[in-house]
Amino acid sequence: MRMRKKPNLGPRMERCAEVLIDDPAALRGRWLEEFPGHGGLLLELGCGKGRFTVGTAESNPDMLLVAVERVADAMVVGMERACEAGIKNVRFIDGDVRKLAGMFDKG
Ligand SMILES: C[S@@+](CC[C@H](N)C(=O)[O-])C[C@H]1O[C@@H](n2cnc3c(N)ncnc32)[C@H](O)[C@@H]1O
Repeated sequence: MRMRKKPNLGPRMERCAEVLIDDPAALRGRWLEEFPGHGGLLLELGCGKGRFTVGTAESNPDMLLVAVERVADAMVVGMERACEAGIKNVRFIDGDVRKLAGMFDKG
C-alpha cells in the first residue's frame, strides 16, 4: 500500500497507546494470560487502515484480535477507529509479519 506520509503520526499513535503493543516479543506464548477473559486469539496479518479489524473485533467480542501492519501511517487509522468505537478486544502491532514467530508461539 502506497501512502503519503501522514503528519503528526507520533502524537496520533500516542493518543491511541492503549491499543498499541510496543513489545510483542515480551508477550510471546502468553497473550491470553496478559489479556484474560478472551476465548482465543485471532491474528490479522496486514491490517491496513483497520476497517476489517474493527468489524471483526466487534463481531467476535469474546476473542482477542491482534492486528499486525508494517505501514504505521495506515495502521494509525485503524487504531483511531478502534479507540473511537471503544473496542476493548483489539490490539495493534507496528511490525513485519515475517517476524511473527518472535511474537507468537505455535498455536
Ligand atoms: C490489501 S491491504 C489489507 C488491508 C486489510 N486487511 C483489509 O482487509 O482492509 C494489505 C496490507 O498488508 C500490509 N503488509 C504487506 N506485507 C506486510 C508484512 N510483511 N508485514 C506487515 N504488513 C504487511 C500492507 O502494508 C497492507 O496494508
